[in-house]
Amino acid sequence: MSDSSSHPDTTDLDRMHSAARREKADMAPAKAPAPMWIIFLGFIVAVVGGGQLGHLTGGYKFESSNPYAGVLAPDPRPMGDGAAVAMGPFEKAMKGGAGSYAVCGGCHQGNGGGLPGQFPPLAGSDWVKGGTERLVRIVLNGLAGPVTVSGQNFNNVMPGQGAMSDQDLANALTYIRNTWGNEGTMVTKEMVAKVREELGSRMTPWSEAELAEFADKNCPGEIPDGPGATVTAEAPAEAK
Ligand code: HEC
Repeated sequence: MSDSSSHPDTTDLDRMHSAARREKADMAPAKAPAPMWIIFLGFIVAVVGGGQLGHLTGGYKFESSNPYAGVLAPDPRPMGDGAAVAMGPFEKAMKGGAGSYAVCGGCHQGNGGGLPGQFPPLAGSDWVKGGTERLVRIVLNGLAGPVTVSGQNFNNVMPGQGAMSDQDLANALTYIRNTWGNEGTMVTKEMVAKVREELGSRMTPWSEAELAEFADKNCPGEIPDGPGATVTAEAPAEAK
């Protein structure tokens, strides 16, 4: 027996240890990792299944998968989707106009009553209830000099509000024509756009005399069917 067999040299020690290091610890049978193909299959099922589910439920939207759709009352909130869909062009214009009127209301007041000696009233004003062409010209270019509104005299300057969009102006005009007891046809953004185009770069405010010829002239253009298409005054009283 040589020394080398009972006492393995360093080379043998290294070899044995590196072999031990290479081997991983034994796994408990139940802990064996799933084969790769099962993991991939899981991914495919999740992607395809998820897509299918989303497709069948209308893109995961509550509205399209709501089993109570039509059973429950429509969303009563004015901003709710349901209400917006149910709103006709006139209702939309009135709603938008209530917002864009804030610009006008700074002078003409929230109640449309104006301020005596300074800002003429819009409530009950023949200017508001009369021809739409005159109204559109006033909001685009403004109005200056002596004017008589509902028997009161004013001599002030209204700056043109042409910075507002055609839609906002149309909504504001539809709104003032159908609020505070006023009744008038709807003003559409196409009407405003047409007058704006005709006036070109004119910026100077109108005088009462200049606008006299438009007192009863309505802007040509289609008005969508519905409450704003005819003056509500002509409709039966209970329609209010
Ligand atoms: C800076 C104040 C001011 C703002 C803002 C203003 N107005 Fe006026 N508006 C006046 C004044 C002042 C007159 C009267 C001008 C005059 O005396 O010649 C007038 C006149 C009018 C008239 C004709 C007279 C009447 O009362 O019926 C209408 C219609 C009108 N404005 C609508 C509007 C609308 C719609 C808006 C918003 C888009 C608006 N105004 C924004 C000050 C304003």
